[in-house]
Amino acid sequence: MDRYVVIGNPIAHSRSPEIHARFARETGESISYERMRVDPGDFARAAGAFFAGGGRGANVTLPFKVDAFAFAQERTARAREAGAVNTLAQRDGTVLGDNTDGAGLVRDLTANLGLALAGRRILLLGAGGAARGVVGPLLALAPAALVVANRTPGRALALAKAFAAAGPVEGAALDAMGGGYDLVVNATSSSTRGEPLALPPGTFAPGALAYDMAYGAAAMPFLEAARRAGARASDGVGMLVEQAAESFFLWRGKRPDTAGAIAALRVS
Ligand code: ATR
Repeated sequence: MDRYVVIGNPIAHSRSPEIHARFARETGESISYERMRVDPGDFARAAGAFFAGGGRGANVTLPFKVDAFAFAQERTARAREAGAVNTLAQRDGTVLGDNTDGAGLVRDLTANLGLALAGRRILLLGAGGAARGVVGPLLALAPAALVVANRTPGRALALAKAFAAAGPVEGAALDAMGGGYDLVVNATSSSTRGEPLALPPGTFAPGALAYDMAYGAAAMPFLEAARRAGARASDGVGMLVEQAAESFFLWRGKRPDTAGAIAALRVS
């Protein structure tokens, strides 16, 4: 049976094993998929041992996405753009690194939530690794503007500069980011730290969607504040399932149905 793992620390909370088990059942693929907790600094050794032992592929989550980028022997264009890898795949003795996070977000926004973002205004909150991974895919949707706003403005300016050739992106401070956004994506770790973001009045355009890349309880403070401000709100469960589906496709060449997995995660 082909072996897959999700590597992270902490990892006990990961929903990826149940998502991939469901995908495997639905597509008739016979795989095993387990959690693998790795100590900080030990990623390359642990991943090397896994692949040397015949492992076929891995998902990689916090805090190892940059280690996984360095570990990969080849990288897809979207992994290079993100500077991070969330999917490793054994290919004829070579380990390929990919990044499916941005594609997962875009698919959830467009296919599942029905957003048409061409010509619209997008606000991306945060300028860390999670934000970086989605800038290119969001710009590919041809928005009128993508503003990256961050508590430390210099990081937002640097991120915008890195993607300047890809579309209309600019950096801003959290307290000077303008308003009237059709989509506001929270890619900060503020909620998980229990330090909710205060969004100024006017941030949301009428009918706007607030999207938190976290899911479950971690997303609630941001989404509740957005609802109070009149926006629709979605957590990142759909992104989680869609990025998993992209990984599964890379590994098995089959595109699983995602609606069932999203619904199952939402109720549990
Ligand atoms: P990740 O890989 O999850 O993006 P990161 O690189 O540590 O993690 O980035 C965390 C992001 O959340 C950063 O944009 C951070 O802002 P700073 O660059 O100013 O540190 C943001 N963040 C974390 N806590 C925050 C808070 N309480 N308010 C606003 N932004 C916060």
